Amino acid sequence: MIARVRTAVLISGRGSNMSALIEAARAPSFPAQIVLVLSDEPAAAGLPTARKAGVAAEAIDYRAYPGKEAFETALDARLLAASAEIVCLAGFMRALSPPFVERWEGRMLNIHPSLLPNLRGLHTHRRALAQRLAEHGCTVHLVTAELDAGPIIAQARVRVLEGDDADALAARVLKEEHRIYPEALNAVARSLRAANAPET
Ligand code: GRF
Repeated sequence: MIARVRTAVLISGRGSNMSALIEAARAPSFPAQIVLVLSDEPAAAGLPTARKAGVAAEAIDYRAYPGKEAFETALDARLLAASAEIVCLAGFMRALSPPFVERWEGRMLNIHPSLLPNLRGLHTHRRALAQRLAEHGCTVHLVTAELDAGPIIAQARVRVLEGDDADALAARVLKEEHRIYPEALNAVARSLRAANAPET
């Protein structure tokens, strides 16, 4: 059997995308396995959810470190100890520094609730409504040093409906997030596995 790519998920909160990844990775044919969930926020609801699903989940509390560099060193050490090969950011609310991002280049994914390059940054649903966009959606992309700007792996479009408020729109986008994030991880894990396969 070909080894599945060891994948860690970084969260800060609810973790519904994390759950979608864990669920998808239950299929033996899925090319990635979720080996670890880490949160910078000890109170993240996603931590107990992950444990209930049988996945190791730990907090690395940002406040316990003197600064970003020390925090990221601890994060990296934990990821390496778990032999993680791919990192999925899933509602991870802390911008990572360029050295950290470079260490994971091509192997770190993020999900963003807009059709990038439109609406980088926060409050995307509210901004989509304020700008009266006809279409909104979500994007999975590779993480680069510039926020929400890395190469796009998958996108899903959602029509903005008459009478939508930010919550209604967010809920429809979230449904698509849960569909495309596993698809994107599938694609990245497959290509990583192919790149690392011994030549025959
Ligand atoms: C999602 O909307 C994701 O696109 C954004 O943060 C939210 C996280 O939600 N980056 P959840 O924690 O996965 O439920």
